[in-house]
Order: sequence, then structure tokens, then C-alpha cells
Amino acid sequence: MIIAIDGPAASGKSTTARLVAERLGYAYLDTGAMYRALTLKAIHRGVDGEDEERLCQLASSLQLSFTIRDGRLKVIMDGEEVSQKIRSPQVSQLVSVVSRHPRVRRIMVERQRRFGEKGGVVVEGRDIGTVVFPQAELKVYLDATPEERAKRRWAELRMKGINSSLEEQLAAIIGRDRLDSQREDSPLRKAPDAVLIDTTHLSIEEEVKAVLDLVKRRG
Ligand code: CDP
Repeated sequence: MIIAIDGPAASGKSTTARLVAERLGYAYLDTGAMYRALTLKAIHRGVDGEDEERLCQLASSLQLSFTIRDGRLKVIMDGEEVSQKIRSPQVSQLVSVVSRHPRVRRIMVERQRRFGEKGGVVVEGRDIGTVVFPQAELKVYLDATPEERAKRRWAELRMKGINSSLEEQLAAIIGRDRLDSQREDSPLRKAPDAVLIDTTHLSIEEEVKAVLDLVKRRG
């Protein structure tokens, strides 16, 4: 089975997807981490977020591997561990610009399909149910109010020792939502056959249970 989980920034996708994969013994693919790694590489190389040609070159040569260690996703890019760096506010600010380009997306989507085509996988992102795996057996769309999502992102950054204000996070999240849902290629939207889960008042454990219940009903 392919399980597609989509939704806006900080809607709980990553944690839910990882835990669902763990409980089912499935593989897990965080496609946002792929776009984030590419963005980090662009920053390192001084490549402009609008330079589609050079971004494509970077995307094609990008070496990525993912492992789960102690319940956390470890991302290795070109031999370097970048798990923390790809979540920095600097990367968050640029990632929706980098991921807007159709040719960049084509390269990334190709890799995502190769990873997931055999099934037994939970894939999370923005366009998984609509574009990457429209044939997925289960599609979930996680959402929460912008205020709740800003609060979660703020707390997450604070735990990592990054200081920011709640207002800053709310503005960043609203800005990214706008770019992600208004872009021409593969905009963020709920697939018609996706099940909507509003996570505003749910705990992580409740979110995971809701998805696992859906899996049981499909199986
Ligand atoms: O964790 P968070 O919700 O902040 O975002 P993410 O899932 O790490 O994704 C970061 C960004 O990558 C998104 O805001 C999108 O611009 C882009 N992205 C995308 O375009 N398509 C995907 N399938 C996944 C992410």
C-alpha cells in the first residue's frame, strides 16, 4: 500500500507520517526534506532561488540518503549530515521559491516515484496524493489553523535553541502557504479522494491513531 500524507507547513505531517510508517513497518519518505536539502545546497553554492537551470543541475547531482535513528529522521546530503541545517529559518524562507520551478520538481518527483513505486511506504509532502502518487491506496490531508501551526513551529524552534517570535512564525507560515498553494505547478491542495483530518485540537498520538484507523479500514 502507498499512503500519501499532504498538508500545509507544520500541520503535523512529518511526525505523523514517521510514526505511522514505524507502526506499520513501512518505509518513510519526507519529500519536504528533499526540497529542503536542495535549498541548502543552493545556499551553500550561492545559487539564486530563481535560477532554474542551475537548480536543476544541483537537483540532478544531489546525493541524498535518509535513515531513522532514535525516532528521528537523519538526512545525509553529499556525505554530510544536514538534518538540523535543513530546518533552519533561512532554508524555510527559501524552500518554497526553489520548489516552485517545474523542471526542478520533475527531477525530484522522478526520484520520489522510484523510491515509492513498490509500495509499503508512507510518503508526505504537498503534492503526493495529487501528482506524485495519484494511485495511492490511502490519501490523507492534514490541516490545522495557521495560529496553531505557528505555535507548533515556534515551540519546535525554541526547543532547538532558535529564538523567534510567534508573530514571526505566523507570518512565515502564512507566506509559505500562499506560495505553495498559489504556484502553477503542483500547488498544495487536497486531492478529491483524500481524507481531511483537522489536527488543531489533536495530539500526535490521536493523529497517528486516526491515520492507522483509516489504514485498517482500507486493508
Ligand atoms: O515541515 P514543513 O511543513 O515546514 O515543510 P516541509 O514539508 O519540510 O516542506 C518544505 C517546503 O518544500 C514546502 O513549503 C514546499 O514549498 C516544498 N515542498 C513541495 O513543494 N512539495 C513537496 N512534495 C514537499 C515540499
